[in-house]
Amino acid sequence: MACARLVRLRAQGARLHGRRSDERVEQRIGVSRRESLGLWDRMAAGWGRDGDSIWEASRAVGEWMVAAVRPGAGDTVLELAAGPDDTGFAAASLVGDSGRLICTDFAPEMVAVARPRGAELGLA
Ligand SMILES: C[S@@+](CC[C@H](N)C(=O)[O-])C[C@H]1O[C@@H](n2cnc3c(N)ncnc32)[C@H](O)[C@@H]1O
Repeated sequence: MACARLVRLRAQGARLHGRRSDERVEQRIGVSRRESLGLWDRMAAGWGRDGDSIWEASRAVGEWMVAAVRPGAGDTVLELAAGPDDTGFAAASLVGDSGRLICTDFAPEMVAVARPRGAELGLA
């Protein structure tokens, strides 16, 4: 009898403990996401100012990724966490006028940097 009660209490405790730690993990993820978003929003100004030299420094990786995806005429390319969109822009010429480029980012300030760059390339 006492043993069955102990088993029940243990199971109840494990459920409660599990739920609490899930909530803590969810809270921590929320905090990290907000911190990360704030950081990228603040970094966007530097990208706006030095975007060309940042792209020159990272171009080999961006172009390697595009080559690995091998987009062709008419394809739709989706770039997630695109930042200034340089990698997506490198793919745009390969998909051509019949293709689509969709670039997303969670930081509005980064999107604000990417938009005029896309417009300059005739992609907006
Ligand atoms: C280094 S930059 C962009 C690099 C770009 N993909 C490239 O290949 O050149 C990283 C971007 O990821 C975005 N980012 C980071 N975490 C994100 C998330 N959880 N959801 C969406 N965008 C995110 C940031 O806002 C930032 O603009």
